[in-house]
Amino acid sequence: MEKVVFVGLGYIGLPTAAVAAHHGYKVVGVDTNPTVVETVNRGEVHIVEPNLAQVVKEAVETGHLHAVSKPEQADAFFIVVPTPFKQNHRADITYVEAATNSVIPYLKPGDLFVIESTSPVMTTERMAELIFLKRPELKGQIYIAYCPERVLPGNTLYELVHNDRVIGGINPESTDKAVEFYSAFVKGKLHRTNARTAEMCKLTENSSRDAQIAFANELSIICDKAGINVWELIELANKHPRVNILQPGCGVGGHCIAVDPWFIVTDYPEQAQFIKRARETNDYKADWCANKVLTACREFVERNGREPVVACMGLAFKPDIDDLRESPAKYIASRIISECRADVLVVEPNIELHSSFHLTGYQEAYRRADIVVWLVRHTLFLQLQREEDKIELDFCGVRK
Ligand SMILES: NC(=O)c1ccc[n+]([C@@H]2O[C@H](COP(=O)([O-])OP(=O)(O)OC[C@H]3O[C@@H](n4cnc5c(N)ncnc54)[C@H](O)[C@@H]3O)[C@@H](O)[C@H]2O)c1
Repeated sequence: MEKVVFVGLGYIGLPTAAVAAHHGYKVVGVDTNPTVVETVNRGEVHIVEPNLAQVVKEAVETGHLHAVSKPEQADAFFIVVPTPFKQNHRADITYVEAATNSVIPYLKPGDLFVIESTSPVMTTERMAELIFLKRPELKGQIYIAYCPERVLPGNTLYELVHNDRVIGGINPESTDKAVEFYSAFVKGKLHRTNARTAEMCKLTENSSRDAQIAFANELSIICDKAGINVWELIELANKHPRVNILQPGCGVGGHCIAVDPWFIVTDYPEQAQFIKRARETNDYKADWCANKVLTACREFVERNGREPVVACMGLAFKPDIDDLRESPAKYIASRIISECRADVLVVEPNIELHSSFHLTGYQEAYRRADIVVWLVRHTLFLQLQREEDKIELDFCGVRK
């Protein structure tokens, strides 16, 4: 395998393409977004990821990486396009289908075709059917596998190389061929399985995180009712040598944990009772938080005869990042703005400008607020001295 094509140059595709190029593969990156293609060909990056700019620059300068808008012939093809969900929570695999269709004309006997996009179970087999429907002569002649990605954004370049990976082919020969590709740059273990198990493994990892957070979130609601400090409770319970409860928050966000469990639930609605409840529990937590704030506003008006100033502290889906995808904090802030007449100040120190929220500095917002709503445990917030006259609703442990 010498020449490889990566279809999709986003948060996962571009770093993987650049690392593969760095390890000697001749890499062609394909993206339908012309700005991405132009940026990469200038040796620059369009996403925020530490050290990525340098790796891409070197790969482009040495001629190991270049970007185009349409696939071309190669020895291996990797599909790394988005898999969002639709209104009904079903996975939208139209990007994977479009990307697969775009490479079909270029496949030749001996080639490897790998899907990296997080996908519902059996997607790889469905894409194999699509390929063989259009190119029946390739049946038994090409290798097809699924290899999910599990990097942590912000640490992508390290984890791409050092994490273990699960690789599942539609047959053992396909698994072997994919293992051969990844072993050129992955130092973690490469675990062989079949395509369905590899697909389910990715969904299972994120469903597991979702379920564990749901447990913590449910505890926080129970503790609120019972007058118990949930942070202290969890710390004490975790003193048990075999107990490890996660921290509650104002819900669960991001484009992985808040999304992927639905790919199981919508395909296996009868069987996936617990995974569904976990998802619903985490979504419910965001509504519960919003309702708490609205109640606090009403009580403030009754006591003071005027509307309060409310500070919503944080919009991101987790601490110290600028990513708002599926963010419960953003959802809660939107509900407060639309459902109460208070003067609502919105804070997100990791973002300068936002198209729908007018952002206020965190110190100013805290100073001006009657009610402070802690939504995200950003490190910056931990430094703010508590002022006694504020009503503080802490949903993420800033004041724990
Ligand atoms: N970002 C993460 O942390 C992460 C982690 C694990 C798994 N994943 C999964 O990896 C996949 C990719 O995620 P991402 O975050 O890199 O997405 P992204 O949105 O950052 O990038 C996807 C890129 O694909 C391009 N694209 C879309 N359709 C195309 C097509 N038909 N041909 C060529 N290019 C096309 C888009 O223009 C975009 O640049 C998703 O399935 C995601 O769930 C992401």
